[in-house]
Amino acid sequence: MRLTAVILAAGQGTRMKSTTPKVLHPLAGQPLVSYAVDTATRVTGVAPVLVVGHGSERVRAALGDRARYVMQAEQLGTGHAVLQARELLLGQADAVLVTYADMPLLTEQTLRQMVEAHSRSASALTILTVVNEDPHGFGRVVRDAAGRVQAVVEEAVCTPEQRAIRELNAGVYCFDAIWLWENLPRVPLSPKGEYYLTDMVGLAIAQGRPVNAVLCADESELLGINTRVHLAEAEAALRSRINRYWMEAGVTLLNPATTCIDATVTIGQDTTIWPNTYLLGRTVIGSGCRIGPGSMVQDCQIGDDCAVTLSVLEHAVMEDDSNIGPFGHLRKGARLCRGAHMGNFGEMKSSTLGPGSKMGHFSYLGDAQIGANVNIGAGTITCNFDGVHKHATVIEDDVFIGSDSMLVAPVRIGQGARTGAGSVVTHDVPAGAVVYGVPARVKRPTGEQ
Ligand code: UD1
Ligand code: CA
Repeated sequence: MRLTAVILAAGQGTRMKSTTPKVLHPLAGQPLVSYAVDTATRVTGVAPVLVVGHGSERVRAALGDRARYVMQAEQLGTGHAVLQARELLLGQADAVLVTYADMPLLTEQTLRQMVEAHSRSASALTILTVVNEDPHGFGRVVRDAAGRVQAVVEEAVCTPEQRAIRELNAGVYCFDAIWLWENLPRVPLSPKGEYYLTDMVGLAIAQGRPVNAVLCADESELLGINTRVHLAEAEAALRSRINRYWMEAGVTLLNPATTCIDATVTIGQDTTIWPNTYLLGRTVIGSGCRIGPGSMVQDCQIGDDCAVTLSVLEHAVMEDDSNIGPFGHLRKGARLCRGAHMGNFGEMKSSTLGPGSKMGHFSYLGDAQIGANVNIGAGTITCNFDGVHKHATVIEDDVFIGSDSMLVAPVRIGQGARTGAGSVVTHDVPAGAVVYGVPARVKRPTGEQ
């Protein structure tokens, strides 16, 4: 069966009180709409059609080719919204899933369950329903004496008896494609001046076509985001879903309630995440690591058996067996090579600390390439900025940089060289040489003193 999805995202989301379109508000690090898009894509195997309206340019820019787009210039209701996809999808599929962009917790399993139930039935459409004691804002599912679905009636046009119904329309549909595109233009204008997609239920029944209903087992999936309070509820639900996933995959979370892992992060087995830790963006963490407590890792690659303690890492790389902290800051382009150690109060930007090299205390490396087995003494600074330009520092293998050295870039320290404590190094240092002083000069060989 050829399956495709239409996702409605044209509404303004007035109750968010925001200049950002509702569907672009971030949720666990991703725009709200991306959840509906990704879930639909996994179920159908093709990019869904997104019906856009308010803020359409920004929505397109955010999602790019992850979706196909049709424009609904005026928001004349959910039925009218789906109609905008008709021309694009006519003849393209056997069944059409319709979901709303503001329901990020809806799972792939629920959609698959609907598709299966639909394909087993001869229904014109299958709807997802939920039973809830608080029906406010939902369409009511009307059944006949035999329990067959007869209609979905919007709250605004309910009779008092219908208003008392507790089976509600969740807002997820699976349509027979041919029937949908033929009948959607026939949806009447409601007394409220909108074309309701839900009127398709009554239309099918009037034609003698049965309507199938799937009862949603987990109503937490159906949370629709209308306000920032809903957004926080969804954030909490999604975070705990993600945390559970990683725990089941072999990652220890010492305190899941204070652990924040974006949906885009991956973590290897037997890694332990300590409390108050944020793993964000496209971060990849290997196995056997200890991350946290109190750390933020954004868009980083961390190898196996690494440790991160009370540190902030952004767009950086840590190779296997390297460690950082407490109180380290890796900025964009920083790399700790295999076995490297960066200790208390260090900062690195666009720099590499070579294999086995150590930078234990109070140092800054900017635009610096450090070789293997180098010791960076306490308080060492690469003076990489002359007020206008950035300059590079190169430190070759086996160098010993004495405490409180200032390396005024551009500068190169040759293999095995040493700088004395407090040196201000303004010229290249030859391999094996010892320099000291301000400005640093080569120590004369013993005997000539
Ligand atoms: C809808 C259902 C209701 C269901 C509820 C579940 C209809 C008529 N009603 O009501 O039965 O119980 O969802 O949450 O479908 N949208 C457009 N263009 C439009 C109108 C809406 O793209 O012209 C989009 C909105 O951006 C939103 C979604 O469709 O993402 C749902 O619209 P909304 O107005 O929130 O429908 P509800 O009143 O919640
Ligand atoms: Ca809604």
